Amino acid sequence: MSTFSEKVAIVTGAATGIGYGISKRLSSENTKIIMVDFDGNMAEQSSSELIAKGGDIEVVIGDVSLPETAEAAVKTAVDKWGHVDILVNNAGIGGINGNIWELEVEELDRVYRTNLRGVFTFCNKTIPTMLENNYGRIVNIASIAGKEGNPRMVPYSATKAAVIGLTKSIGKELAGTGVLANCITPAVVQTRILDEFTPEQVNYMVDRIPVGRTGEIGEIAAMVSWLSSDECSFSTGAVFDISGGRATY
Ligand SMILES: NC(=O)c1ccc[n+]([C@@H]2O[C@H](COP(=O)([O-])OP(=O)(O)OC[C@H]3O[C@@H](n4cnc5c(N)ncnc54)[C@H](O)[C@@H]3O)[C@@H](O)[C@H]2O)c1
Repeated sequence: MSTFSEKVAIVTGAATGIGYGISKRLSSENTKIIMVDFDGNMAEQSSSELIAKGGDIEVVIGDVSLPETAEAAVKTAVDKWGHVDILVNNAGIGGINGNIWELEVEELDRVYRTNLRGVFTFCNKTIPTMLENNYGRIVNIASIAGKEGNPRMVPYSATKAAVIGLTKSIGKELAGTGVLANCITPAVVQTRILDEFTPEQVNYMVDRIPVGRTGEIGEIAAMVSWLSSDECSFSTGAVFDISGGRATY
């Protein structure tokens, strides 16, 4: 259990979509939030909405792949509230659709920087302060694409598989410290990220969801809420499916 009655969370990619939904949910549970995003205008607008509802929110504007963004997020939290209890690595991009032989190699680098380097960087900079307090909950947002490998989405699928591997590794590194790290693997949720994909690609992904609908942001936020709570106490290095039955393992 955390010794602090009010939790402090860093949520990346918090300006919109799933990250905003997670911030809204955690804020409604009295968690103080550092909302990190490189879309400054959207982050300010979204944070204002939460502050208007009584939320205790700070915004850090920056690219998650840069160590200085993660350092700024941790410093802002510690300076204002003294600790960081929860880290939600949510920022991610979809990338260009295409077979591997049709993509530029640089496309892999671009997707990797946000989807994997961003997660590594925020874990790297946040875990030391969690270890000082013998408490932490890390939730990484991977994807069903990382388990199944979507065609025409190699950079996305490969980097999301890497997020699963990173989570399993740090779960073991942190075991017994009070810091738990888990990841979730959503199937399609209607957000701006789908604008990066062709309509055919979106249809491919939606058609593979057995329950016959896309996921809701609130459903993802509910799972993240539990994984970042004290009630989650015996799960670490684990992969939680939220794919409407698409996952086969
Ligand atoms: N929507 C889906 O169908 C779906 C399914 C599975 C997993 N996911 C994952 O959920 C996460 C959130 O996706 P979403 O659907 O809400 O996407 P989104 O595009 O709606 O939101 C992503 C947010 O992250 C921010 N962001 C992107 N790159 C960043 C960077 N380098 N630095 C700082 N901020 C950055 C964007 O500005 C935006 O606010 C992603 O990791 C995504 O891969 C989404």
